[in-house]
Amino acid sequence: MEYRRLGKSGLKVSELSFGSWVTFGSQVDVDLAVNCMAAAYDAGVNFFDNAEVYNKGKSEIVMGEALKKLGWERDSYIVSSKVMWGAKENPKPTQMGLSRKHLVEACDQALERLQVEYLDLYFCHRPDPEVPMEEIVRGMTELILRGKVFYWGTSEWSAQDIEKAYEVARQYDLIPPTMDQPQYHIFHRNRVEQEYAELYNPDAVGLGTTIWSPLASGLLTGKYNDGIPADSRVNLPGYEWLKEMITGEAGKPRLEAVRQLGKVADELGTSMSRMAIAWCLKNPHVSTVITGASKVEQVKENMEAIKVVPQLTDEVMQKIESITAGLAE
Ligand SMILES: NC(=O)c1ccc[n+]([C@@H]2O[C@H](COP(=O)([O-])OP(=O)(O)OC[C@H]3O[C@@H](n4cnc5c(N)ncnc54)[C@H](OP(=O)(O)O)[C@@H]3O)[C@@H](O)[C@H]2O)c1
Repeated sequence: MEYRRLGKSGLKVSELSFGSWVTFGSQVDVDLAVNCMAAAYDAGVNFFDNAEVYNKGKSEIVMGEALKKLGWERDSYIVSSKVMWGAKENPKPTQMGLSRKHLVEACDQALERLQVEYLDLYFCHRPDPEVPMEEIVRGMTELILRGKVFYWGTSEWSAQDIEKAYEVARQYDLIPPTMDQPQYHIFHRNRVEQEYAELYNPDAVGLGTTIWSPLASGLLTGKYNDGIPADSRVNLPGYEWLKEMITGEAGKPRLEAVRQLGKVADELGTSMSRMAIAWCLKNPHVSTVITGASKVEQVKENMEAIKVVPQLTDEVMQKIESITAGLAE
């Protein structure tokens, strides 16, 4: 496993990391979380991603219990949370959003659920147009100065909003965001490849990216090519939208492309999952690819992706490009 700098910060993050969206607290209990996280850590993963909203706080509770059982040295790994939607079923107005009050209270609650003394990374899970940028940047700076957070970032913010946060930080001598967490995979590219292009310049923002859903929620494993397996996340209550995205009319051309991509993976003697994750790693502006899994075997399989990166020559990348032309957003 290689370690990449998180944007222009000095923090070294493993090129593959592991997150708990959907899985922890629903498909994955504490014992399975221990085994999945151990498989990732043993392969060199040092970053574990979470959010207050994942299974309404349960995901952080499961990860916290797992971390306690695993007993790793606290300075050997990076753990994150994200703030925005709250951890309650029906949050009250003060229990969500990016107000200074919720930033601080949500951070304390995440620390308690995760059973750690500080978060390495803390993300604003989405922009909140109802809170002034100065309040957000000040709130995050305060959390850093109080030792509760080491680096703060954003998730799915526009380039314009990230630049604004950076400018506000410079204007008031506050701490700017270090990273964004955007979706990035073979079918979802524009933000990372185009919109953020200017932000990677280390003489300016020097943005890092911790990218999510490298397998498009399993689509890029090829597992949906002949129907939906019974134990897939898309059959869970509340994820009907994901099922529709994959098996609905709009998803059909992508499914067909995945069948073609599977042949490219076959030619390389690898799996579709490994090839799709390796494709994300080819982009030098990706600081880390956050993988997800509901089973230990999936973690092990996905970790093998790093070996496939050298096989993705210009010629192979071009093949992938032509199969997916017009299908990526
Ligand atoms: N910031 C944000 O807004 C945001 C949004 C989403 C995710 N994230 C982060 O990104 C992480 C990764 O996202 P993701 O979970 O959507 O990633 P993903 O890699 O696109 O999907 C992971 C899912 O695909 C299936 N899978 C994974 N590897 C497989 C394999 N080798 N063979 C067969 N099936 C496999 C599993 O689902 P089944 O076993 O259920 O089929 C697994 O849970 C999340 O955990 C979270 O930390 C962030």
